[in-house]
Amino acid sequence: MLDGEEGYAARKSMEILVALGEIYGAERLIKIGSVQVAGVSYHNLGDAGLEFLNELAKDGKVRVLTTLNPAGMDLENWKTLGIKEDFAAKQNLVIDAFQRMGILISCTCTPYLIGNLPRYGEHVAWSESSAVTFANSIIGARTNREGGPSALAAAFVGKTPCYGLHLDENRVPDVHVQVNVALTKISDWGALGYAVGKKVENKIPYITGIKEAELDELKSFCASVVTYGTKPLFYIRGITPAAENVQIPKDTVTIEQIDIQNAYDSINDQVTDIDFVCVGCPHCSIKEISEIAELIKGKKIKENTELWVATSRTAKQLADKRGYTQIIEEAGGKFACDTCMAVAPLKGRFKALATTSAKGCFYSRQNNMKTKIGSLKECIDAAVTGKWSN
Ligand code: F3S
Repeated sequence: MLDGEEGYAARKSMEILVALGEIYGAERLIKIGSVQVAGVSYHNLGDAGLEFLNELAKDGKVRVLTTLNPAGMDLENWKTLGIKEDFAAKQNLVIDAFQRMGILISCTCTPYLIGNLPRYGEHVAWSESSAVTFANSIIGARTNREGGPSALAAAFVGKTPCYGLHLDENRVPDVHVQVNVALTKISDWGALGYAVGKKVENKIPYITGIKEAELDELKSFCASVVTYGTKPLFYIRGITPAAENVQIPKDTVTIEQIDIQNAYDSINDQVTDIDFVCVGCPHCSIKEISEIAELIKGKKIKENTELWVATSRTAKQLADKRGYTQIIEEAGGKFACDTCMAVAPLKGRFKALATTSAKGCFYSRQNNMKTKIGSLKECIDAAVTGKWSN
């Protein structure tokens, strides 16, 4: 491949993988079961990125199941979301290039909910930090935090260099985090992720003190903890599958109510008027969509406020069948499939966001929005009243 015998895309990919392997001291390549490719939004790629993808798409074909991260717009419903024609045209060219490579146009950061679900211990090459953290921690698969190009390269080769989190010795937890607070709503998990991330900084935490956790809470925690500081791997005693196979580190920090409060204080801005409510970071599961429908049934979104439900097209199709879509749209809410608040071109469009997601707040501040984080109910109330109530 490196000599170009299997074409341009394979050679380019092998060059990337060999360079990475040399930098990180990998002794060999290992087979991977799947790939998740980030770097899909034209907003981030620009024309140079599009050109790079078109070159690879000339003869590049993926060798393993490969799914895509969110794009810069809903691929069907972009006009309703206020996306401009010229952006849509460019974004469609990006999607077309990925399609020619044989990639599943899934456009979601929850690939594990739509059929890209590795088994425990399986090596994969995923990009997108929340998905990488979920794969390593909740599933017990093994992946480094790939960038878009290195994930794509792994997809064309079917292998990735064996270093970092593919190796047992790099998956050992460094610090014990004792959680001494009860978590009562989804945003508490985002706040916990913030608090843990800030305390352990680029280490691998082993967390105790959490008795139960739902899937949606765990995916929210994955997104937050890696955004605010840790490596993309953690253990929770009694919850994550590999927690029983590793030793609890001696070095211990605790998370108290004051840490959670400090997290909320840092994530929340001083703002009352809300013009954008976005839930689904990471993308909403069908369960979350059903909860939104339940909360919004019979209500109306406030004028000049938008509610976006960011999710995969697969989850939306289930929502269509169950009648949730109709309830949400009758209230004035909009589905944002294939995209999210971080990768859509939103700068300057909204002043203040309400969301359930700590990660969503982090990226929306970069889009010059004020941010509020809270429960699903608090977010839906904000969408209906245009105000944040606490
Ligand atoms: Fe997913 Fe976008 Fe959040 S990629 S984790 S919804 S910032």
